[in-house]
Amino acid sequence: MWATALLSLLPLVSAQLALPNPPFLPPSISDGAQPSSGGFPNPKWSSLLGSLIYFYDEQRSGTLPSTNRVPWRNDSLILEGRDQGIDLTGGFYDAGDFSKDTFPLSFALMSMCWGATDFGKGYDLANQTAYLDDTLRWGLDWLIKAHPNDSTLVVMIPNADKDGSYWGGDRSIPSPRPLYIINDQNPGTDAAAGTAAAFAACSNLYAGRGFSNNSYSPPASLKNDSYADTLLTHAQQLYKFAVNATNGRKTYQTSVPKVAAAYASSGYGDELAMAALFLAQATGSQETYQEAESYWTKYNLQDLRVFNWDSKNAGLPVLFAQLNQASSSFGGNFSVWQKRAEDYFDDILSNKGAGRLTDDGLLFYDGDSDDATLNPALNAAMLLERYVPMTSTAEKKVSYHNFANSQVDYVLGKNSMSMPYIVGINPNSPKNPHSAMASGGTDIGAIDTDPAEEAYVLAGAVVGGPDKRGRFFDIRSDWPQTEIALDYNAPMLTLAAIHVMGDSKDPFYTSLAAGAYDKVKPKGRPCDSAITDGCVGGRLSKKATLAMAITITVIGLIVIGLSAWYIILLMKSRRMGKIG
Ligand SMILES: *[C@@H]1O[C@H](CO)[C@@H](O)[C@H](O)[C@H]1NC(C)=O
Ligand SMILES: *[C@@H]1O[C@H](CO)[C@@H](O)[C@H](O)[C@H]1NC(C)=O
Ligand SMILES: *[C@@H]1O[C@H](CO)[C@@H](O)[C@H](O)[C@H]1NC(C)=O
Ligand SMILES: *[C@@H]1O[C@H](CO)[C@@H](O)[C@H](O)[C@H]1NC(C)=O
Ligand SMILES: *[C@@H]1O[C@H](CO)[C@@H](O)[C@H](O)[C@H]1NC(C)=O
Ligand SMILES: *[C@@H]1O[C@H](CO)[C@@H](O)[C@H](O)[C@H]1NC(C)=O
Ligand SMILES: *[C@@H]1O[C@H](CO)[C@@H](O)[C@H](O)[C@H]1NC(C)=O
Repeated sequence: MWATALLSLLPLVSAQLALPNPPFLPPSISDGAQPSSGGFPNPKWSSLLGSLIYFYDEQRSGTLPSTNRVPWRNDSLILEGRDQGIDLTGGFYDAGDFSKDTFPLSFALMSMCWGATDFGKGYDLANQTAYLDDTLRWGLDWLIKAHPNDSTLVVMIPNADKDGSYWGGDRSIPSPRPLYIINDQNPGTDAAAGTAAAFAACSNLYAGRGFSNNSYSPPASLKNDSYADTLLTHAQQLYKFAVNATNGRKTYQTSVPKVAAAYASSGYGDELAMAALFLAQATGSQETYQEAESYWTKYNLQDLRVFNWDSKNAGLPVLFAQLNQASSSFGGNFSVWQKRAEDYFDDILSNKGAGRLTDDGLLFYDGDSDDATLNPALNAAMLLERYVPMTSTAEKKVSYHNFANSQVDYVLGKNSMSMPYIVGINPNSPKNPHSAMASGGTDIGAIDTDPAEEAYVLAGAVVGGPDKRGRFFDIRSDWPQTEIALDYNAPMLTLAAIHVMGDSKDPFYTSLAAGAYDKVKPKGRPCDSAITDGCVGGRLSKKATLAMAITITVIGLIVIGLSAWYIILLMKSRRMGKIG
C-alpha cells in the first residue's frame, strides 16, 4: 500500500514525465502499407504522431540520455561552448548538417507548444505526451543555456570549424565551433522576440493556460508551474531586450551577417507581435496585448502570405482571435480578427491569394515554396484546422477542414508520385533524405553515391517536397526536395494530433502498395536551387533569374525597384543550400 503510494509519486518528483517502458518506436516500414481496422483513437494516426516526434530524438546534440531511442546515434559535441566559457551542449541539429540555429529552432518550439496547448488531447490519446515533454525540454533547456543573461542570446553555431563545412557522421564533427551572439550593442530584434515567443508559448503549455474554450485544451499531465515560471522569466527578459535594446531594433543579420546565408530574417514586427500575444496570454496584461495591436499597425503586418520560420504574419490573426474569443479583458475585438483571418483563408480556398494549387493539388507560393514545397502548405493546413472552432459560419468549418485535409492527404501520399513525404512510414517513402548523419557518407563530393544506400532510416522526418510540377526525384544532394528540418516537422505534429482526436480513418498512406512510386518515378533531373542540369528546356535557373534581374536594373528606376522587391521575396523564403 505504502509502496504503491510512493511509486505513484515517482513521476511527480522526477524532472519530467516518465517515459513509457518499453519505449514507443516507429513501426516498421512495411507496417505502413497495412491498413488498420480503424477505431478510435486510430492506431495509425497515433503511431504517425509518435514517429514525427521521434524525428527530434534523431536530431539531438550533446550527451544522449539513458532513454535514447535511436540506436545509431552517438553523443556529440559534448563540450560545445566550453572554450568560450559557456555551456552550449545539447539542443538539436537544425537540418541536414550539424548547425544549431536559434531562429528556426524557436519557431519550431513555438509552433509545437502552441499546437499542444490547443490539441493536447491528441498527444494524450496517442500516449505521446511524455515524448512531447522530453522533446520540448531538450530544446527549451538548450535555449535557456543560449540565453545566459538578460540581453545575450546565442543565435547560431555553424556546421564548420573555420569557413569549411562538414559532411559525415556524428562522432567526428569538427570542434570547437564559433558562436554567434546578439546583445545590447549588437541586437537582433527578430531572434530575441522569436525566442521570447517560444518561451512564452511553452510557458503557457506547461502552466496549462489554454484558451478556455472547450475546443482546445493542453494535456493536464504536463502541468509544471515551476518550469512554466522559468520559461516565462526568459520570455519576459528577451521581450524586453527585443523591444528596448540599447542599440535599437534591427534584424539579427544586421548585427551578425554570418546568419544571413541560411536564415536571414525579412523583418521583426511579426516576431514582436507574436511574443507580445503569447506574453499577454501568460500574464493577462492588456498593456502587452495592446503592444501587439500597435506592432500590427506600425510594421504593416497585414500582408499575409506563408507562415514559416521567417514570416509569422499569417498566424497573427488566428492568435489574436483566440485571445479575444477566450477573454474580453484584453480590449480587442474578436470579430475584427475573425474577419481578417477569414479573408486570408477564403482567398486561399478560392485560389485568389498569393498561393495557388499545383496541378496535383498542393498549395504553392511562388518564391516562398520553391525550396521546400510542403512547408507552406502544411503550415496553412495547421492554421486552418486551428481556426475551425472559431469560424463565423458552419459552412466555413466544413470547407476549411476539407481544404486542410486535402493538404494533409497530399503530404501523406495522395499525390502524383504516390509518395508519402515522411521518411520510413511506408515502402514508398523517400529513401535519400539530405541528412549527413543518416546518409553514412563522409565525402560531400560523392554525396549521392557514397554510400549507394542511405545507412540509417531517418524515421519520421518530413522532407522538403516535390517540385511545382509534382515531381519528386529522391536525390540526396537535392536539398530543396530531400532536406529535413526541425521546422518541417512542426506543423505536421499539430495536424497529426488533431487527426488522432477526430479521425477514425487511417492516414492516406496505408492504402499505398509497395512499388507505387517506382512506377511513376520521374525521368531526368530536377531544376532547382541545388541541381540545375535538369533545367534544359525548363524554367530558368535561380541564378539565371537573378542575373536577369540584375541586368534589368540598368533599364530604369521603376524596374530597379521591382527587381529589388523580387530579390527580397526570393531571399526572404530561401533556405540556402547547407552544402555550399
Ligand atoms: C517541474 O520541472 C522542474 C524543472 O525541470 C523539475 O525540476 C521538477 O521536478 C518538475 N516538477 C514536477 C512536479 O514534475
Ligand atoms: C495508450 O495506453 C493505454 C494504457 O496502457 C492503452 O490501453 C492504449 O491502447 C494506448 N494507446 C495507444 C494509441 O497506444
Ligand atoms: C552575459 O553572457 C555573456 C556570454 O556568456 C558574457 O560574455 C557577458 O559578460 C554576460 N553579461 C553580463 C552582464 O553578465
Ligand atoms: C555512431 O557510432 C557507431 C559506432 O561507432 C557508428 O557505426 C555510427 O555510424 C555512428 N552514428 C553516426 C550517426 O555517425
Ligand atoms: C468556443 O468557441 C466556440 C466557437 O466559436 C463558441 O461557440 C464557444 O462558446 C466557445 N466555448 C467556450 C467555452 O468559450
Ligand atoms: C521599454 O522602455 C520603455 C521606456 O522606458 C518602457 O516604458 C517600456 O516598459 C519598456 N518595454 C519593456 C517591454 O520593457
Ligand atoms: C467589433 O467590430 C465590429 C466590426 O467588425 C463592430 O461591428 C463592433 O461594433 C465592434 N465591437 C466593439 C465592442 O467594438
